[in-house]
Amino acid sequence: METEPEPRANGTPPGGGPADTETGLAVRGLVRRYARDVTVGPISFTVAEGEFFSLLGPSGCGKTTTLRCIAGFEPVDEGIIELAGRRIEKVPPHKREIGLVFQTPMLFPHLTVSDNVAFGLSVHGVPRREAARRAAVMLALVGLSELGQRRPDQLSGGQQQRAALARSLVLEPPLLLLDEPFSSLDLKLRVQMREELRKLQRRLQKTTIFVTHDQTEALALSHRIAVLSGGRIEQIGTPREIYEQPASRFVADFIGNANLLEAEVLGWRDGIADITTESGLRLQACAAAAPTARRVTALVRPELVRIGNAAASVANTFTAEVTEVVYLGDEAQYRLRLGVRAELLLVRKLTGGSDTLAHASVVNVGIDPGDVVILSR
Ligand SMILES: Nc1ncnc2c1ncn2[C@@H]1O[C@H](COP(=O)(O)OP(=O)(O)OP(=O)(O)O)[C@@H](O)[C@H]1O
Ligand SMILES: [Mg+2]
Repeated sequence: METEPEPRANGTPPGGGPADTETGLAVRGLVRRYARDVTVGPISFTVAEGEFFSLLGPSGCGKTTTLRCIAGFEPVDEGIIELAGRRIEKVPPHKREIGLVFQTPMLFPHLTVSDNVAFGLSVHGVPRREAARRAAVMLALVGLSELGQRRPDQLSGGQQQRAALARSLVLEPPLLLLDEPFSSLDLKLRVQMREELRKLQRRLQKTTIFVTHDQTEALALSHRIAVLSGGRIEQIGTPREIYEQPASRFVADFIGNANLLEAEVLGWRDGIADITTESGLRLQACAAAAPTARRVTALVRPELVRIGNAAASVANTFTAEVTEVVYLGDEAQYRLRLGVRAELLLVRKLTGGSDTLAHASVVNVGIDPGDVVILSR
């Protein structure tokens, strides 16, 4: 099995502290004000050399703005952007030499695919034959060797995006920015392109910022992810950290399915918090330190809810009724009712035909205290 490459700079900091800014990118206190009430930032993060870093968040949270500021297409109202130790926030875009791939491919319609890829090299004065040779190498890398002589409108959407990627990569930019490059593709092709980008990243280890509102894409591709909301960064972390230790209710809710239970802390002792949810569940939750607030939100991922025999061995056990069954082929989602008011979502991978729970059946439910994450409200 292939292993994941680590970003080249040592000790890429979880949580987004100072990375190796000698070679990578540093964004510090970036602010873009469109109008008095529409501000993106302040935003700060660093990307180490060779790192694949994603900006993830809902529509309008400031992902594209951040990318455009880095690329130089959007003026920066406050803050610093450093690439390989050099301040670039006032450098004109064409002198930043940053590769940018947009949501739509934006190829020149009158040029062949090969000439599209070679175009930037020609602009930089690379002789025609050499430019064509390098374009051919890049086209091979993105799997378009056979299609170099076609025009863009003779390519599928996914092929056009690959050509756009090749056109950026051929210039060997120190930084590659990708703004939702697969969002116009259908789901199956998106997944295929995601896998191809992963392989390409493993090979080239290009410092990349990838913008997406698709959490699966961000989890699958990234060394680290910054989750944005309302123009600010909510959390920076590895996919695992973001999913398993979300810093806020927003992050927990945005990434994956979540049972979010409003609760009150009754006490804390020896790493275990005793909480009671507004819906009437009494739960023990692992917490390294005593929660600082009395009112908290408890997160339980639906795939961690245990049932049947597995439920018996944990500290929090309940009986529940299955009130809803959603069959999704490889998994099933269940809504469980516990007591009078409490509801839990349960997700189970289906491994055999007999594995689904029947509607209205009664099951034993268990929640391990280690599977409860306490979030401050
Ligand atoms: N040129 C502009 N003039 C005024 N406001 C703008 C402009 N561009 C973006 N905005 C506003 O800035 C905020 C951030 O927009 P941005 O395009 O960065 O979001 P996004 O995260 O890329 O969203 P999406 O996922 O929809 O592409 C939004 O509130 C948007 O309306
Ligand atoms: Mg956008």
